[in-house]
Parts: sequence; structure tokens; C-alpha cells
Amino acid sequence: MADHCPYLSKLASLNSEKTHGGTANKSVAEERLVQLLEGQTVPVQMGNLPTVPPPWYNPVKFQRGQEFARRHFAGISLAHFVSLITMLTSPQILKPLIFTQKSETVLKSFKRYIGTVVHVTAWYFGDVWQKDHPARRSIQMVRSMHDHASTQMNHPERRRQVDNTAMADCGQPFDDPSMLASLQMDAQKLAGCPYVGLRRQPASNDQEEPYVYFNQFDMADSQFAFVGVLVLFPHKFGATYASDDDLSGFIHFWRCIGYLLGIEDRFNFCDGDNLDLTRDLCRHYLDKMIKPAFKDASVEFEHMARAVAKGASLYYPGVSFESLFAYYANVVGLPAANFIHHMSYSQWFYYLYLRLVFSVLCWIPGVIRVFSGMTQFSIGLVVARSSTAGWWPKSWKPPQVGGLDVFWTLKPRAEGLKNSQTNLALNGA
Ligand code: HEM
Repeated sequence: MADHCPYLSKLASLNSEKTHGGTANKSVAEERLVQLLEGQTVPVQMGNLPTVPPPWYNPVKFQRGQEFARRHFAGISLAHFVSLITMLTSPQILKPLIFTQKSETVLKSFKRYIGTVVHVTAWYFGDVWQKDHPARRSIQMVRSMHDHASTQMNHPERRRQVDNTAMADCGQPFDDPSMLASLQMDAQKLAGCPYVGLRRQPASNDQEEPYVYFNQFDMADSQFAFVGVLVLFPHKFGATYASDDDLSGFIHFWRCIGYLLGIEDRFNFCDGDNLDLTRDLCRHYLDKMIKPAFKDASVEFEHMARAVAKGASLYYPGVSFESLFAYYANVVGLPAANFIHHMSYSQWFYYLYLRLVFSVLCWIPGVIRVFSGMTQFSIGLVVARSSTAGWWPKSWKPPQVGGLDVFWTLKPRAEGLKNSQTNLALNGA
């Protein structure tokens, strides 16, 4: 097959160089990236959850990762949001999201992503290894959603439709002035990268094999969105005093979540659990895959990213696409002078607010806990039954979303949780 498909031949040549020692100067991170890219032709394992933890599961590390996430909940939520927005530059992630028609308007995006926030929070607070625990049911539910979407999108009759999703499928365009030209102008200052060309394009006609939606690489790409900027820049997301053990635990946690969502070990972004190697991979991935992708940011990207931010503004008042993007650019070192120049005063003010809180004030011990409590409170208003926080003025309450309160269990049952996670590891060993 590699003989016919230019994409696979190029990967094969990179691999053979690797095997024959022609890449002595290639870093381990580069080799890992090439390996991850091979996952583009391998579908994700769906269906039922594995019943035993993987042999490499380490309960102590896992809990350390959960505790780290709980302590820095506000910063971690911000990191997840900004990363989600940037992940939308990839057509491989964007097209499925446009196709499912669940996040292209403000209200739909609000419901869709509050769902994501609640599920991920359930994994941080709950016990994903314990049968019938809400956190485990949540993982099973997300697997089923992925399974359903994957079956739909990879169906021969629908695949073309997904490949060809465009602005016309995104509903009514938003009125806001477009920032795309400024964003692209800034991005032109970046060097291009050959690896970007190794990402398969859904609609490319020269492919022998049709594009596999929900492939192993897309999942690893999403894992980067959950761990990448936190591992590289914890101090920009309120985790000023994060220790190496905290970050290793966080990486291990996401390695386990990847496993539970059907990622094979060799394609798991967090495989190996090694903090230094994961950092190198994140840095490499950011420079080679994420940053250059902004050169080709599309109108669909801008629309869907705006929808994410506008939806989130219903429970994080003041947040906007512009302020989130500017913050991301500031953290990762993306050129954004034109972009920032075209922001309104209120967007600029919110951007400075994010910098002040998460990069400066969180140096003061305890501040991140206050902001984490506030973040949990505002999400709780959306998720919990209407009687919750009855004293809170009704006119200040965001719209509520039903069906999520079963997963919104913010009190980790410390001892029970530890015991069950440890026992399962022992059983699985
Ligand atoms: C580490 C990887 C991933 C995690 C942790 C994750 C997490 C989630 C969560 C929590 C939900 C439930 C949202 C809700 O309740 O509405 C969800 C749904 C969904 N995810 Fe993922 N996801 C991952 C990878 C992906 C990838 C790679 C794609 C696309 C290629 C994708 C596309 C979807 C779709 C289509 C849904 C159903 C809801 C919709 O149509 O928007 N996910 N995911």
C-alpha cells in the first residue's frame, strides 16, 4: 500500500531511516511523533470498557494526578478550553464536530462543552476503575458517543458528506468582526514544518485508503490538548508550584484515560510516563504540529472556536474567542501582534485579567484554590438541580442543563476511592 499512497511512502521512508540508524541526530521526540502519526490509519477500539487496568497502571501516580487536577481546577479548566480552541485548526477534529451538528451554535456549544467539562471533572474526582461508579459510567458513555459518531462518519455513504463539511454546515455566521486575517498574518511569521504535511487530509483525492475518522492519532492529538500546555507551562495556568511528581501523576492519569477510551499503548501520547520525554514530545508537538497549523486556519475554525467561547461565556462571563486565543498565544509564544491590535477594549481587558490571575496572582499560595472554588460553583449552577444555591439571584443564573448532575460528584470519597483504585490495580496485576 505504501507504494501507492504518497503519505504512507513518506512515513515508511522516515521509519526506515529510523531503523537503519540514519537518524542519529533525530531526537526521541521526533521518533515518537512519527510513530504517533502512523496511528492515522488505525481505528480506535470502541465497544465496552476494559475490565482490568493495564499492567502499567500505578494507583499512587494516578491519584497524585487526580489530586493535582482537583487542586488546580480553575487553571486546568482554562488550559482545556484554550487547547480545545486551538485543536479546532485541525480539519480531522473539526469536520466530525461540524458534521455531528452539536456545537455550531452558542446554545448547542454551551450544552456540548458543559457536558465535556462535567465528564472530565467526574474523572478527576471519581473512581474510573470502580464498577458502577459515576466516573466509570461517564467513561463508558463517552466511549459510546465516540462509537456512535465513528460508525456514522466512517460509513461509506456518509464519509463524503463528512469530508466535505464546510461553513454552510455551521449554521448562521456570527456577527462579530472576523479576526482570521490578523491571525493568519501573524502566523505567516512562523516556519513551516514537514510534519504538517504528514497529517492526512480527509478530503484529499490522492488517497488510496479513505480517511479513518476517530483514528488513534486523532485521539493522541486530543490527549495533547488535555496535557500539553499544562506540562509545558504549569505556572501560566495557576499551577505555579507544581512538582515533577504532580506532573508525572497528571501524565499517568491521562495515559490511563487514553487507555480507557481505546488508545493503543504505542499511540498513547502519554506512553512511558516519563516526564522529561513527555515534555520534549509536547514541545516538539507544539512547535511542529500546533503552531504551523494556524497558517491555514479556516473560516470554519473561527466559527466553531467562537461558538465554544460564546457558549462558555454563559457560565464564565466576559470570556471571548479573542481573549482565549490571545492568552494561548502569549503562553506558547505564537506571534499575535496583529491579532491583539484588532481586539476590542473589553476583549483586551479580559485577556489581561487572565494573565493577571493565572500567571501572576496564583504565585500567592491559596489563590488558585479560591478561583477553583469559584469555577466549580459556576459550573455547579449549570449542572445542579434548580434548587441548588437557592440564595443565588435567579437573574444571575446561567441556563441549566439536565442529566449531568449524576456525574457532578465533587467530593472524592478519599478512603473508599483510594482502596478501590488500589484493589483494582492488585486484581489486574
Ligand atoms: C483524549 C481524547 C478525547 C477525550 C478525552 C474526549 C472527550 C469527550 C467527552 C467528554 C465527550 C462527551 C461530551 C458531551 O457530553 O456532550 C465527547 C464526545 C464527543 N467527542 Fe470526544 N474526546 C476525545 C477525542 C475525540 C476525537 C479525536 C474526536 C473527533 C475526531 C471526538 C469527537 C467527539 C464527538 C463527535 C462527540 C459526541 C458529541 C458531539 O457530537 O460533539 N472526540 N468526547
